[in-house]
Amino acid sequence: GQDSRISRISSAIRAIPDFPKPGILFQDITTLLLDTKAFRDTIDLFVERYKDKNISVVAGIEARGFIFGPPIALAIGAKFVPMRKPHKLPGEVISEEYALEYGTDVMEMHVGAVESGERALVVDDLIATGGTLCAAIRLLERVGVQVVECACVIELPELQINLL
Ligand code: PRP
Repeated sequence: GQDSRISRISSAIRAIPDFPKPGILFQDITTLLLDTKAFRDTIDLFVERYKDKNISVVAGIEARGFIFGPPIALAIGAKFVPMRKPHKLPGEVISEEYALEYGTDVMEMHVGAVESGERALVVDDLIATGGTLCAAIRLLERVGVQVVECACVIELPELQINLL
């Protein structure tokens, strides 16, 4: 059932203390990718939720949204659009700045990758403060795309989510 799949997925994710700096418990999804059943179950759970929702865009957030987004996109018949760090995309881009713990970062998307009126799913590995996902939502909404939902493999419940 769904619960046994979720517990297997959860067990396959490795927590590494003090990475990338002291005090951070890093959630490492590379071990999930080594477990072929758990990886497949992860994708299947999202596909079961998002198929038949008329989604034409899966927007994946660099870097680990590039791992989980494309298999979901292929399975639900949507295109995949990368949301990247600045100066990585070669075409014309639109940019959105967002707050980090210290300072700010910028997310970029190719102009013309999506059209006004499309329905999108945003995919990443993990939500902590929600700042990254909010920037992705703002970028898509600026060009008239409706964000149906955001899908993450891991939620950090100990951190406060500041959506919008
Ligand atoms: C991590 C994670 C999310 C983001 C979540 O990315 O993969 O994209 O942080 O944090 P938030 O909810 O507080 O915004 P990271 O900063 O490690 O960048 P990377 O994927 O390029 O390594």
